[in-house]
Amino acid sequence: MYKLFFNLVFKRMDPERAHYLAFRWIRLAARVPVLRTCVAALLAPRHKELRTEAFGLRMHGPFGLAAGFDKNAVAVDGMTMLGFDHIEIGTVTAQPQPGNPKKRLFRLVQDRALINRMGFNNEGSAAVAARLEARNPVFRTTVGVNIGKTKVVPEEEAVGDYVASTERLAAHADYLVVNVSSPNTPGLRNLQATESLRPLLTAVREAADRTVTSGRVPLLVKIAPDLADEDVDAVADLAVELGLDGIIATNTTIAREGLGLMSDPAIIKETGGLSGAPLKERSLEVLRRLHVRVGDGITLVGVGGIETAEDAWQRILAGATLVQGYSAFIYEGPFWSRAIHKGLAARLQASPYATLAEAVGADNRKATQP
Ligand SMILES: Cc1cc2nc3c(=O)[nH]c(=O)nc-3n(C[C@H](O)[C@H](O)[C@H](O)COP(=O)(O)O)c2cc1C
Repeated sequence: MYKLFFNLVFKRMDPERAHYLAFRWIRLAARVPVLRTCVAALLAPRHKELRTEAFGLRMHGPFGLAAGFDKNAVAVDGMTMLGFDHIEIGTVTAQPQPGNPKKRLFRLVQDRALINRMGFNNEGSAAVAARLEARNPVFRTTVGVNIGKTKVVPEEEAVGDYVASTERLAAHADYLVVNVSSPNTPGLRNLQATESLRPLLTAVREAADRTVTSGRVPLLVKIAPDLADEDVDAVADLAVELGLDGIIATNTTIAREGLGLMSDPAIIKETGGLSGAPLKERSLEVLRRLHVRVGDGITLVGVGGIETAEDAWQRILAGATLVQGYSAFIYEGPFWSRAIHKGLAARLQASPYATLAEAVGADNRKATQP
């Protein structure tokens, strides 16, 4: 049904317009009490066996909405209504910014993928903090806040920029993510190098602790799939050294070669980050590598190319406590997260693991057993 609608309506529209249209419908539906209760009952059923704990936070399940979809925290209830068990808002930058000129979002329908060079279009940390502060949640959910660098701020002043966002947003975040991996802000990904990442994460941690004195806001870093394996290891080691709470693997990729892309070559050539199905293999590989390196010491969040419950289950077995998705939502529609949850619950039941926590990283433990 959704696929037909997608082919007849969304596919013929500019992808960014289709996004905002769908987004408006979701927000409107979430404002009508009877409607949102019915939709949530249908699409966000709670499976007891999927209850999850990650960095000290209890969640209804492991599957959430990846950053970038709700950049300004305007649709947290709407996305929860659709069944996402945590919502990562952002990326939010310290200063408001319009992002890159349009057209900046492209569909690769044949590849079930997207290319985007949005460039962190968002209302800025002050506006988003005010919105989160005023929020009167309808559904209980976990809200992660993903922060990034303002484009006009030079790389040398990045730390201050992230600290400014942290000071405004930490009090409203169930967890905070330092995004150093989007390909659409010049120089951003250089911050993944440990000599830059160490002072950045240390300063954000200190700012979060200064701002929120009643508890400790979990801090995570989100990395790119394009890091060389040694750099993935270096980030993992740094995360352990700094006592970080989690790593999100991965953001979009700038790679195009070797991914078997079948869409129009003119679109494939568009600059930006590629997400969706072609990212699956590398994201899984990075996640597994991280888990092998850090074991259960740090919570891992698997994202990149997840389309089915089986994909999500494979991430859990490879070491992810939480999983997220974005691109497949565009292609699969509103029943997507329901299908993931149902399939995950069935897989857990059919597995030898009594709880989801037991399944996390089980594949890697098997591989190291004599
Ligand atoms: C249009 C678009 C915008 C995105 N914006 C952000 C962003 O602002 N911050 C971020 O950390 N990731 C962003 N992402 C990356 C996603 O959060 C996710 O890491 C990536 O798309 C891989 O997951 P997927 O294959 O399920 O889409 C964006 C992705 C897309 C498609």
